[in-house]
Parts: sequence; structure tokens; C-alpha cells
Amino acid sequence: MNVLIIGSGGREDALGQKIAASSLSPALFFLPGNGGTARYGCNIPCSVMDITGVIAACREHSIDYVVVAPDDPLAIGMVDALKAAGIPAFGPDRKAAQIEASKSFAKNLMRKYSIPTASYEVFTDSSEAISYAERQSYPLVIKADGLALGKGVIIAESRDEAISAIKDMMDNAAFGTAGQKIVIEEFLTGPEVTVLSFTDGKTVVPMVSSMDHKRAYDGDKGPNTGGMGVIAPNPFFTDAISAECMDTIFLPTIRAMEAEGCPFSGCLYFGLMLTPSGPKVIEYNSRFGDPEAEAILPLLDSDLLEIMMAVTEGRLEDADVKWKDLSSACVVAASGGYPDKYAKGKEITIGDTGDCSVYIAGAAEKDGKLVTSGGRVLSAVATASTLGEALSTAYKAMEHISFEGMEYRKDIGRRALEASDGV
Ligand code: AMP
Ligand code: GLY
Repeated sequence: MNVLIIGSGGREDALGQKIAASSLSPALFFLPGNGGTARYGCNIPCSVMDITGVIAACREHSIDYVVVAPDDPLAIGMVDALKAAGIPAFGPDRKAAQIEASKSFAKNLMRKYSIPTASYEVFTDSSEAISYAERQSYPLVIKADGLALGKGVIIAESRDEAISAIKDMMDNAAFGTAGQKIVIEEFLTGPEVTVLSFTDGKTVVPMVSSMDHKRAYDGDKGPNTGGMGVIAPNPFFTDAISAECMDTIFLPTIRAMEAEGCPFSGCLYFGLMLTPSGPKVIEYNSRFGDPEAEAILPLLDSDLLEIMMAVTEGRLEDADVKWKDLSSACVVAASGGYPDKYAKGKEITIGDTGDCSVYIAGAAEKDGKLVTSGGRVLSAVATASTLGEALSTAYKAMEHISFEGMEYRKDIGRRALEASDGV
């Protein structure tokens, strides 16, 4: 069986390594892949946005099944095109992918179906947005409607900051067309939890909960990034909260999408905040998170490819989805300067990383060597019976990995460790 994974990050390497272990013994292809995936799969050079190129690659390599991992190709209808070409694919179709690609779509869905989320208004006119912002209390959250590489969210502490964010997004096109429409919403407080889930549009099976660390520097300081590390499970996400979320958020979302005529099939990512008035949705993503996938997939004790095919074929209800009773820690190594400007082409040395898995992200193969090619370069992931042990194994591995300018957060999991004693 030939399986193609679309994407080029650490998430795709983690998906690939887990799928490679399937009892279906798949041959793996990546489009475009990276220096890590080239070690056990065939990298196909092509843009993830080139629908015609992707279909041609599938034909050339006799691909039987495709996993579309990133948001952008999902949003333009990559899965629709693959299905029309007779190639089964994991991921939502274009209509369902709107749950991530359009924040106003997601917010209106939640309002219509009473799914708890921050109160909000949608604007397409900057002067109306400004006059609304002038009447709100602060902090206030301003979000570009479309996909903006995780950078389209501004937490404005004052009216001046809000107005300048609105002008940047709507008048100065700071996020291109993504900011022509904006959502202004209430600022929520509480611990954040990520819950990825498998869903075929009818059944939803949550994965182990996790905690991302989005800021670049220790102590949750510095600019927002794609994610600098993850721990799982998230100690704030108790069994009682999990049951509440199933009733108030997970199932209602799946049913709402079905009722709207766009059932969601694939991995639905729930970004939650556990507020003093209960769990609320901060965002939905239409795909596996990165680096959440790197932390969570090693905890899966079932066959990932079998589960994915059950999702695609609408028989998730009967699938076997088991988890190891372990904790996982993922620490990301980034190029100095990320998420702003950073150098590329630096040689990466990976020594003895013990029991740790290393997933490659922004790195390419050059003359038989691995060199940096992106902001988030790789991650070290360890699983163990306690979170403390998993973290110490992941951090020990980082001491055996080096490249010029390498940076990583030293406090991944600290807040979770503190909370584990208290919850
Ligand atoms: P998003 O791109 O929607 O995940 O937002 C990025 C980050 O902004 C989230 O992970 C939160 O930390 C923060 N955020 C987004 N919306 C809100 C909100 N309504 N209240 C407080 N923080 C928020
Ligand atoms: N780590 C956050 C995301 O993948 O959106």
C-alpha cells in the first residue's frame, strides 16, 4: 500500500513514523517532506498548494491513500480534488475546513448551536470595528478572519492598541486578505488545553489532552510562535472536565457541522480555555497541531493508519483507539531569531539521544548532511510513566543535539508539573 503525506513539518515526520509502524506495511511518500522524512520515505518535490501537481504525483507513484496534514491545502479543497480523482484522503473537505480557515464561520457556528465561546462581533468595515472597540472593556482580542500563520491574533491592552491593530489588519492589509474581515472578542482567562480528536462526521474520539507552549521564550514571554513544546496529558483537563467538554463542545460541534451540511472528517483540533465559568472554545483547527502531533502520536497504542482509514470510510465507531498510560514531553529546537529572521543552512549534529524520538521539521538533506532550513528545526520527544521523567529525558537528549544558533525553551512543562500537585 502506498501512502502519501502532504506537508513538510515535524508533524508530518511524526505522522510518517507512526504510519510506518502500521501492520499494513505501507510504503511512504511525502510531498514535499523534509530531511527527516527522506530517511524512510520518498520525498516528492511539489508545492502543497498545487492541486494538479499533487494528483499527478499520486498517479505517478500509484498512491492508495493520502493524508493532508497542513491547513492551507485543506482550505483550498485538496481533499475534494483527491476524492474526485478517486483517491481516498484523510482530512476535511473545503467546506468543513472553514471551521479553521474562517474564524467568523467558526464563531457563527458556535453562536447558532450554543457552543461555549468568547462573546464576539464580526466586522468588514474598519470604522464600525473601531467604534465598537471604543465601547469595550480591556484587554480585548482582535482576530483576522482568515489563515495568518498563527499570527492573526492580537490581545489589545488598550483602546489605542486595539485601534492600531484594526487599522493594520483592515486598512493596511497586514495579513493580506485574511484580515479584510475581523472578529473582535471578549478576553478569556484560565488554563489552555488542546484536545485533538478523530472524527468521521458522526463519531468523535478525543485523543490524549495536551498543553502547547506558544510563546518564544521562557516564562511565556516573547512573540507567539507555532509552538515551542508540548506536554501530554494536560493536568488541568480532569476526567470531569473531559466529560463536560464531550457534552457541551465536542459532540455539539460534530452535530452542528453535520446539520450545516458540512460534516467534518479528519482530525478536529479543539483549542480550549478552562475559564471560571466553564470550558470554552478559543479556536478550532482542521488538522493535527504541530508540535501537538509530535507529543501525542507516540502515546497512541493502536494502528494510526487503520484509524485514519476508518475515519475516511465513516466507520470510526468500530475502530480500536487505545492510548498508553504514559506522559509525553516534546521540546522544540528553533533557529536563533525565530519567529522573526533566522539563518539557514547550519549543519545539525544529533548524537546519542537515548530513549528519545527526534522528529525533523525545518531541516533539509544536503550532501548527506542534515542542515537547518526553517524556524522550528526539530523536536525531541520522550514518553515515561511520569511527566517529570519524560521532561528530563527530552531535555537530556537536547544536550546531544546541536547546530549554530540553536535555541529552545528551558521551561516546557513547568506549569504542568506545578499543577499536577494541585489538581
Ligand atoms: P489562536 O490563533 O486563536 O489560537 O489564538 C492564539 C492565542 O491567543 C491563543 O492560544 C490564546 O492564548 C490567545 N487567545 C485567543 N483568543 C483569546 C481570548 N478570547 N481570550 C484570551 N486569549 C485568547
Ligand atoms: N501548535 C498550534 C497549532 O498547530 O496550531
